[in-house]
Amino acid sequence: MTSSPTRLGCHLGALRCSMSISTALDRIADSGRLDAVIEPVRKTVNKVLRPGAVKDVLHGVWLGHPLHPALAQVPLGAWMSAGLLDALPGNRKEADLLIATGIAAAVPTALAGAADWSEGEIGQQRVGAVHAVLNSAALVLYAGSLFARARGSRARGRRLAYAALGLASSSAGIGGHLAYHQAAGASHAATAARTLSHDWIDLGPLADLPDGQPMLRVSDDSDRPASLCVIRRGDMAHVLVDSCSHLGGPLHQGRLTDIGGNQCLVCPWHGGTFVLADGRAVRGPAVAAATVLQTRVSDGRLQAKVPERHEV
Ligand code: FES
Repeated sequence: MTSSPTRLGCHLGALRCSMSISTALDRIADSGRLDAVIEPVRKTVNKVLRPGAVKDVLHGVWLGHPLHPALAQVPLGAWMSAGLLDALPGNRKEADLLIATGIAAAVPTALAGAADWSEGEIGQQRVGAVHAVLNSAALVLYAGSLFARARGSRARGRRLAYAALGLASSSAGIGGHLAYHQAAGASHAATAARTLSHDWIDLGPLADLPDGQPMLRVSDDSDRPASLCVIRRGDMAHVLVDSCSHLGGPLHQGRLTDIGGNQCLVCPWHGGTFVLADGRAVRGPAVAAATVLQTRVSDGRLQAKVPERHEV
């Protein structure tokens, strides 16, 4: 099948447009212009949302997945539906109800986003700040729309709602950039695991490892060198990909702790905590599991193997 020159021109135009948006967002991520505002806001968020049970709920530790993108479906879906109803005759109460629902759902969505944002890397925080400003502006416009509707000014209410929908949709696109381009919320442990050999990796004599102390072992016995965090416990060992699922922190520099009878490893960067036995995240900001390797001891040498699910 061939494309007509006109259609090809449209495709190229769309490609150029998406590239320029992406480039603009990368420039924001690289620029320190917003930092004077970001730093005090980040400190305030971290004072209000201190590391602990509430912040972990907002991160989505209990879900094993970031909570913010899941919650964001509710306000955006409600507001888009309201926009559709506003374009049709009748449906006044239904559109108003959807806008109010979106406003109510935006509160926990923003809190979850703020929790993640406060623990992100600087580029994610810069782009995240733009995302937050657009969302806040959309929220103000939606509140104005609801107010106008309550006072009987439906045309004004509709105009405000459509302006808000434009801002909220643009902001959702920026959220997509944060997730897919800047890997906010993605598991950095899974990404690192894909680069490792899928054969048994030799980690040297088990007896050479100190007991109960996280150690870095770099194996280069294949064309895919492995950086692994190894923790010997008696005559066995836990072996994890040395990359924290949150932002790739070096797990071998972490410390061991006991949580609810489980031996856990605490990431040195932001305190994300993982159960050694299965890698499960039990404290945020990490939500995805650490990658735990299968182990065996052969002729006194420790060997480890990456789970098959990471094979490409
Ligand atoms: S890199 Fe953030 S908790 Fe590990």
